[in-house]
Amino acid sequence: MSEGISQADKPEVLEGHERDLFSKFDDIILTRETLLASGVEDPFSLVMEQVLSPTRAICNGRDTILLGTYNYMGMTFDPDVIEAGKNALDNFGAGTTGSRVLNGTYRGHREVEDALREFYGMDHAMVFSTGYQANLGIISTIAGKGDYIVLDIDSHASIWDGCALGNAEVVPFKHNDIEAMDKRLGRIPEGAGKLVVLEGVYSMLGDIAPLKEMIAVAKKHGAMVLVDEAHSMGFIGEHGRGVAEAQGVLDDVDFVIGTFSKSVGTVGGFCVSNHPKFEIMRLVCRPYVFTASLPPSVVATAATSIRKLMHGSDKRAHLWENSKRLHGGLTQLGFKLGTEEPQSAIVAVIMPDLEHGAAMWEALLKEGLYVNLARPPATPANMTLLRCSLCAEHSAEEVETLLGMFERAGKAVGII
Ligand SMILES: Cc1ncc(COP(=O)(O)O)c(C=O)c1O
Repeated sequence: MSEGISQADKPEVLEGHERDLFSKFDDIILTRETLLASGVEDPFSLVMEQVLSPTRAICNGRDTILLGTYNYMGMTFDPDVIEAGKNALDNFGAGTTGSRVLNGTYRGHREVEDALREFYGMDHAMVFSTGYQANLGIISTIAGKGDYIVLDIDSHASIWDGCALGNAEVVPFKHNDIEAMDKRLGRIPEGAGKLVVLEGVYSMLGDIAPLKEMIAVAKKHGAMVLVDEAHSMGFIGEHGRGVAEAQGVLDDVDFVIGTFSKSVGTVGGFCVSNHPKFEIMRLVCRPYVFTASLPPSVVATAATSIRKLMHGSDKRAHLWENSKRLHGGLTQLGFKLGTEEPQSAIVAVIMPDLEHGAAMWEALLKEGLYVNLARPPATPANMTLLRCSLCAEHSAEEVETLLGMFERAGKAVGII
């Protein structure tokens, strides 16, 4: 018997029966079963039967416009990117079968890190197998027991999990609230290690952080700053370096985290930094060391894509046009949106509840439009959202077409 648990504290277990470890999921199972019993199609198990382009796929046998992929710059079908992937597959094989610190560093891994260093103009770049692992690894390694992490309450799951893995003291503050962040930092014991974690774009509502003010506050308190630019890299900022670039504070950020699964158009994650001791992370960061590295074809596609994104200003301008038109059009139709003005390539449409959200999601799919349905606990303030993410490859005509789809579906479901 384990120490410290008295007989009286032990959960009641019927003789001969195991305690069902799945009972904690009963509420979510019931919610899901109730939703599906209403006859609505399961919004969380759609199959893309064929993918035709960054903006179109065949779903349920029908040509569908994709408006929920985070494929912001449409790089998934870029001919140079595809060719680089095919060449790497032919010349380096299907996978590395090894960790970066053993047999898993190929020429392509170095090349994609070179491309990232150049893209951000920073000294160091470290590539992880996913963006989730980049947050998990960097946060848990730099902020451990006895250190403090001050973070926005609406942070992505990978940030929270990184905090938990490192066992630091976690101090959340109200979303985008500069004063609350200042107060929390002011209460941390003197001499303790401090890390402030922020995101450039918050992906649920598509709003951006006041990084300029927040980073100034963090520096006033002697904290290091990590910014996750997953949803802004490639698109926001003159060179697509993200919100920190757009607000002129990139030089003050100690660690930028990003992903290859959005604007870069493949899979993988990274951290870039100018910290002089950064390279030691390659030996001490467990989610980097104890996992296999990305396949050669993936790093080749990522490197090619990142280099092309350096010259993507026309695409960035078109994506802004799309975002403004969609935001304006939906507002005009009477939908309630997550932000008053378009702030990123994400436009979140707020649904009254999960039932209406699922019905609207299904009505849009029948119209031939795919969006993401998001529900608590992933969303802030218990909201149900239809999250639309635009792509630089959506034509102006496509945006008009999908506004028509929103109008018909919204009227059919009784939301507008
Ligand atoms: C803010 C943020 N950080 C990190 C990630 C994780 O990225 P990846 O898909 O590469 O694991 C995501 C993905 O949705 C994200 O939204």
